[in-house]
Amino acid sequence: MSVDSTTDPPGSGSGSRSLRTAHFAVVAALGGFLFGYDTAVINGAVTAIQSEFQIGAVVTGLAVATALIGSALGAWSAGTLADRYGRLATMRTAAVLFLLSAIGSALPLSVWDFTIWRLVGGVAVGMASVIAPAYIAEISPAGNRGRLGSLQQLAIVLGIAISQVVNWGIAGAAGGSEAPLLGLDAWQWMLAVEAVPAVLYGLLAFTIPESPRYLVARGRIYSAHEVLSTTEGGDVEARLAEIQDSVANDHRPQVRDLRTRRTGLLPIVWVGIVLSVLQQFVGINVIFYYSSALWQSVGIDESNSLLLSLSTQIFNIVGTVLALLLLDRVGRRRLLMTGSAGMAVMLAVATYAFGHASTVDGEPNLADPYGPMALIAAHVFVFFFAISWGPVVWVLLGEMFPNRFRAPALAVAAAAQWLANFTITASFPPLSEINLSMTYLGYTVFAAVSVWFVFKWVPETKGRTLEDMDRTTLTRAS
Ligand code: GLC
Repeated sequence: MSVDSTTDPPGSGSGSRSLRTAHFAVVAALGGFLFGYDTAVINGAVTAIQSEFQIGAVVTGLAVATALIGSALGAWSAGTLADRYGRLATMRTAAVLFLLSAIGSALPLSVWDFTIWRLVGGVAVGMASVIAPAYIAEISPAGNRGRLGSLQQLAIVLGIAISQVVNWGIAGAAGGSEAPLLGLDAWQWMLAVEAVPAVLYGLLAFTIPESPRYLVARGRIYSAHEVLSTTEGGDVEARLAEIQDSVANDHRPQVRDLRTRRTGLLPIVWVGIVLSVLQQFVGINVIFYYSSALWQSVGIDESNSLLLSLSTQIFNIVGTVLALLLLDRVGRRRLLMTGSAGMAVMLAVATYAFGHASTVDGEPNLADPYGPMALIAAHVFVFFFAISWGPVVWVLLGEMFPNRFRAPALAVAAAAQWLANFTITASFPPLSEINLSMTYLGYTVFAAVSVWFVFKWVPETKGRTLEDMDRTTLTRAS
């Protein structure tokens, strides 16, 4: 094959090249939007579902948490799908599952039917959580990879926030989440609305090219060359040769390959798993999933809890935008360590505040300074998470594994993250009932441990090409 790499195709100056790469990354990041939307939409619908199906707390918890187990399954299967059928096919499959789940869960026949549709949505969330970071890392030039990769987290946090606003708007228009609106109940509309971004995601996934790393792995060198000249320019031929070198292998990688001694990849996969688990074990989703229960326990009125959940979302969005600007300048390690230290201090303050909040006649004491103290600590904690662990973990998972093993390794780490999310989500209600302050002490310890973990184990990937990292990972491992 002979391809001329010295002359770029028309319209491929660095400005239009960056724009096109940004377009590809934004489409993949839409999967993140659906991930955020789907995991948070249930908040507004859950009380209505409970009364619609006359179910108690345990069945409700099960119906809600099953989606997280679905996400672990979806993340796990995305590794195989992405390597066998491609990154784009995985996105389209996720889009179809999102659509089916939106319609199915909005029109359920029973609570079990509802749970199954939410499980299907969870599978789609898990797939999207793997394919967005993998695809974005694979189409991004090294110097912009952090910024483009954090678009996924920005999309996740926007998805969470917008789902809450949409729920609020629908409940407002109907006069309550159980009230009828245009032939359905309000809660059914809340779930059905997700069909819109799902269709958009599926259609837009037809406007972007397949990942060049995947194309090389499948021997489609000419197509890979075409994509690379659209995204990177420069000496495309040399980049192509590097990629070919790094994916050269006689068989398609699978999850079990990660365990063989010969590949020696175990340590880097463990780093990915621990990063994932720690991201969840600092308790970030407690703030997003259980905000009203949390604030009521320190005397904050329920009527303010929607406002508070919106204000934490704003801290989350602003922090993520800041991270997006900083990632390719400051580097991943420094951001993570700053975030860990800030989170540990804020969690310690929350531990103290929750431990000292007093009650009067069994009700929280409004004269206490501890309610506002916990509230401020939680907001600053969310901000520290948003500038660090939120986006950086997803970016790192997309870029830190060698080309040959990216999809299965990322799938394993993301599945671990969903299981960790499930563990925190399911254990918070009983643990906080026993002792809220001790529960927060646990999150504080995980945040403190994460400073050490990053310092000791996490590699700096800023500005390095995926192939350059491949070489060092493999050299160190062999
Ligand atoms: C990250 C986490 C996710 C969390 C979100 C909050 O994406 O993986 O679990 O809900 O941040 O911003």
